Amino acid sequence: MYHIVKALVYDGPGKKQLADRPQPALIHATDAVVRITRTTICGTDLHILKGDVPTVAPGRILGHEGIGVVDEVGTGVSRFHQGDRVLISCITACGKCDYCRRGMPSHCEQGGWILGNTIDGTQAEFVRIPFADTSLYLVPENADEDAMVMLSDILPTGYECGVLNGAVKPGDTVAIVGAGPIGLAALLTTQFFAPANLIVIDLDDNRLAVAKQFGATAVVNSSAGKAAETIMALTGGKGVDVAMEAVGIAATFGLCQDIIGAGGHIANIGVHGTSATLHLEKLWSKNITITTRLVDAVTTPLLLKTVMAGRLKPARLVTHHFPLSDILKAYDTFGNAAKESALKIILTNK
Ligand SMILES: NC(=O)c1ccc[n+]([C@@H]2O[C@H](COP(=O)([O-])OP(=O)(O)OC[C@H]3O[C@@H](n4cnc5c(N)ncnc54)[C@H](O)[C@@H]3O)[C@@H](O)[C@H]2O)c1
Ligand SMILES: [Zn+2]
Ligand SMILES: [Zn+2]
Repeated sequence: MYHIVKALVYDGPGKKQLADRPQPALIHATDAVVRITRTTICGTDLHILKGDVPTVAPGRILGHEGIGVVDEVGTGVSRFHQGDRVLISCITACGKCDYCRRGMPSHCEQGGWILGNTIDGTQAEFVRIPFADTSLYLVPENADEDAMVMLSDILPTGYECGVLNGAVKPGDTVAIVGAGPIGLAALLTTQFFAPANLIVIDLDDNRLAVAKQFGATAVVNSSAGKAAETIMALTGGKGVDVAMEAVGIAATFGLCQDIIGAGGHIANIGVHGTSATLHLEKLWSKNITITTRLVDAVTTPLLLKTVMAGRLKPARLVTHHFPLSDILKAYDTFGNAAKESALKIILTNK
C-alpha cells in the first residue's frame, strides 16, 4: 500500500518546492526503502540550486544525507532488515565493480554520488537506497542521532578530500579556506594528525568564531581582500604545508595557490561550477601536489568509531532543527547562513 509523501523537489536553477510524491518502492532485489527520520541540507544542494551541477534534472528530490528506519528490503539484501536504524551514505556502492573494489566507490559504475543527483534523494519522508548492503550502516544503540547525520557526507568529505588528500602530518601548518560544515569537518578531523598551526579563512565572522572553538589557532576574514598577505605574514613568508579549498569558487582556489609553501599540498574539496585559473607560472617550481576528490565515504566505519568513542563530537556542527515539513524555511536559513548563524540544520521526520 503506497502513500503520497512529502519531498523537496528541484525545479531547475533557483527553483524548488515541497511537493507530494508517491512513496518510493523497491525496484531491484538489492534495494531497501528507508523511512527518513533525520536529514539535512548540504552546501552542494545550494550549488545545485545555483545550476552548478548539470546532472541534476528538474523534478529530482534533493538530499544525500540522513538516517532512518528500514521500511522494506529486496530479496537480495542480507545485512539489513525491516526496523533497523540505518545511516545512509552519500555514496552508493555496488561493492563489486572495478571502482568499488579499488576503494573508489565515488565512481561506482552503478552508484557513486547518485542520491539527490541522478536518483531521488533523502529530503523526503521515504527514500529508495540501491545496493543497500554496501551503502547503509547500522546505527549503534545509544548513538546521538544528530551526530550520525554528520557521517553521511561532511565528516568523510572533510577527512578524505581535505585531510587525507592533503597528507596532513604532525607539526604541519594547515590552512582551511571556507568554514562551512565541510571546512569545519576538515578542521575537526585534521586534528587526528596534530598539526602545529591551523588557519581558517572565511568571510563570516560567526563561522570563524566557531572555527576558533573547534581548534583553529588563527582565523582570517578574507572580505578585505588581504587574506594571502595575512597568511604569508603568519607563516614567516613561507606559506602553508596544506591548503584545503572548502568553498567551490575560483577565488578561493586562487587563494590556496597564493599561500601554498614549497612541497605543499593543495587539497580541493569544493564543488566548482566554473573554471579556475591554475598559476603554473608561479607553481611549477614549488614541488607542490594538487588533489581533487569526490568523497568515497570509505572512512565512514573509522569515523563512526571515533564518534561513538566520543573522540569526535560532530553534533557541535548542528545549529538548527526544523520539522521536515518546514524544509523551505530551513533552506532560507541555510542560504542566509551568515545572518542566521547557521551551520548544519537537522530536519526531523517524526
Ligand atoms: N568533494 C566532495 O565530495 C564534496 C562533498 C560535499 C560537499 N562538497 C563541497 O564543499 C564545499 C563546502 O560545503 P559546505 O557545506 O561547507 O558549504 P557552505 O556553503 O556552507 O560553506 C562555504 C563557506 O565558504 C565561505 N566563503 C564563500 N566565499 C568565500 C570567499 N571568497 N572566501 C572565503 N570564504 C568564502 C562561506 O562564508 C561559507 O562559510 C561546497 O562547494 C560543497 O559543494 C564537496
Ligand atoms: Zn554533500
Ligand atoms: Zn561499484
